[in-house]
Amino acid sequence: MAAYYARRAAEYERIYARPERQADLRAIEAALPAEFSGRRVLELACGTGWWTPHAARDARHWLATDLNPETLAIARQKTLPAYVQVARADAYDLKTLPPGEFDAAFAGFWWSHVPLQRLPDWLAMLHARLQPGARVVFIDNRYVAGSSTPIHRRDEAGNTYQLRHLDDGSTHEVLKNFADREDALTLLGPRATGVRWVAHAHYWVLAYDLL
Ligand SMILES: C[S@@+](CC[C@H](N)C(=O)[O-])C[C@H]1O[C@@H](n2cnc3c(N)ncnc32)[C@H](O)[C@@H]1O
Repeated sequence: MAAYYARRAAEYERIYARPERQADLRAIEAALPAEFSGRRVLELACGTGWWTPHAARDARHWLATDLNPETLAIARQKTLPAYVQVARADAYDLKTLPPGEFDAAFAGFWWSHVPLQRLPDWLAMLHARLQPGARVVFIDNRYVAGSSTPIHRRDEAGNTYQLRHLDDGSTHEVLKNFADREDALTLLGPRATGVRWVAHAHYWVLAYDLL
């Protein structure tokens, strides 16, 4: 998955130009800043930083992280407020983060790439890195026939996979799960409170606060 996104970095943001997704994108961009107003936010798997300027607009501090130098290089070219820092970190190993306290976290299109069997432990690890009262927001895809890349296979744990093609002619099998509200909420664990799930036509947004 990481290697696929390193190779895809230069062409990644084309996904945000799909005409049928524009109304959803504008609605999510407009709603995100209020989620993080005044907060110190950890963004995981930020990729090219497409969401960062929108979501970080009213934050106090924002650390945008990704594993791949190729995607981070594009994120660093964006015009970002001075309180936004961009750094390399592995979302599966939060010890690789620069030191800092966070009262919010954000990840776009990361949930869908975490194997189902890893999600409970991954969420527990993330929550442990955040302060009590922290706000957590995830955005991800809904499966829309005719717009989403078709599912190519399902494994014994229930994870689904797509075959994706890049401009260099390479083909990659990528784990991509399409969570629904019930799936997601049962995974959040005992610290999640005030859970909100917004289903747009192409995306879902999950937001909650930690006890
Ligand atoms: C679907 S992209 C999402 C990018 C961005 N959040 C967005 O919404 O446009 C997934 C990202 O996960 C990153 N990634 C893959 N494995 C990772 C890991 N172990 N830790 C952090 N980021 C990782 C990839 O480099 C890629 O940028």
